[in-house]
Amino acid sequence: MLDAPLGDEQNEEDPTVIKLQELAAQKLGKEDALFVASGTMGNLVALITHAQPGDSVMMEEESHILRCETGGLAAVAGLMLKTVPGKLGFPKMDCLRKAIIGEGRLFPTTRLICLENTHNAAGETCIDTEQMEEISGIAKKHGIKIHIDGARIFNAAIALDVEPAELVKEADSIQFCLSKGLGCPFGSLLVGDKDFISKARKKRQMLGGGMRQAGLMAAAGIIGLEKMIDRLKEDHNNAHILAEGLVEAGIKINMRTVQTNMVFFEVPEGKIKPIDLVERLKKENVLIGDPKGRKIRVVTHKDINRDDISYIIEKFKNILDKNYN
Ligand SMILES: Cc1ncc(COP(=O)(O)O)c(C=O)c1O
Repeated sequence: MLDAPLGDEQNEEDPTVIKLQELAAQKLGKEDALFVASGTMGNLVALITHAQPGDSVMMEEESHILRCETGGLAAVAGLMLKTVPGKLGFPKMDCLRKAIIGEGRLFPTTRLICLENTHNAAGETCIDTEQMEEISGIAKKHGIKIHIDGARIFNAAIALDVEPAELVKEADSIQFCLSKGLGCPFGSLLVGDKDFISKARKKRQMLGGGMRQAGLMAAAGIIGLEKMIDRLKEDHNNAHILAEGLVEAGIKINMRTVQTNMVFFEVPEGKIKPIDLVERLKKENVLIGDPKGRKIRVVTHKDINRDDISYIIEKFKNILDKNYN
């Protein structure tokens, strides 16, 4: 990162950012890409580029854009929201069809469908190419654009064993994060065709997201894209082994949701309090996020190896055994 050639990114003069953007566009089979500060910014820029205030956007009801991006779609983009129930993160097609709002003087017309792949709240589950084709058929028929919140799109591609470009072929734009499984300290990319990215660049500037010598951070992103994608398989295998171990420890897990690098479960009633479990694990050097109610999310990543997984399972077993009843 310290050796990266730098320039003024706002003037499109930073060679390292340009290289990262080209690489991102190429990986996802699109014409162009834009380096942004975060996944949240990438999604927001996509929303305000695709749609005008008063337009409608549709998304699955547990989408990250809706739950965890501080209402930017309403507060900044001024969009109307239509939510659609989903199954493993993919919107139910009959509900989606019904939720479309057509053209007309009176109507907040649907301009955009946002998908999330992998889908966080569903357990980091994947939307596959057939599902993409199905939804794209409907979107095209109604002149609606598709944006993918692909914070972890490469996890999905690896899990589905499909080329990333093939997976996002039907999408008009994709946001993906460097700062998650790809292991970078900073940044996301918004990817799409040249015209879309040129408009998005102006919107990013409006949000204060134009940068200066950003090649410092982009340099890590290049390593993320060149070296960190294939190894995501290890994280997925580790998550699977961890889930099986936790099932042995008496925790109920829907294994259909364990598709990538996360394991979600509820701490069984009548055992230890979820927050105490997290605290006890912390004392054993196992760091997991704070529980939401009884729900806990465990994430595997590049600094967790197979031995760590055995250690974590053992710690879970010990703590849960001691806290029966
Ligand atoms: C699915 C999804 N989209 C978007 C984001 C936002 O990314 P960031 O934290 O970089 O803003 C996240 C972050 O966890 C996410 O999980």
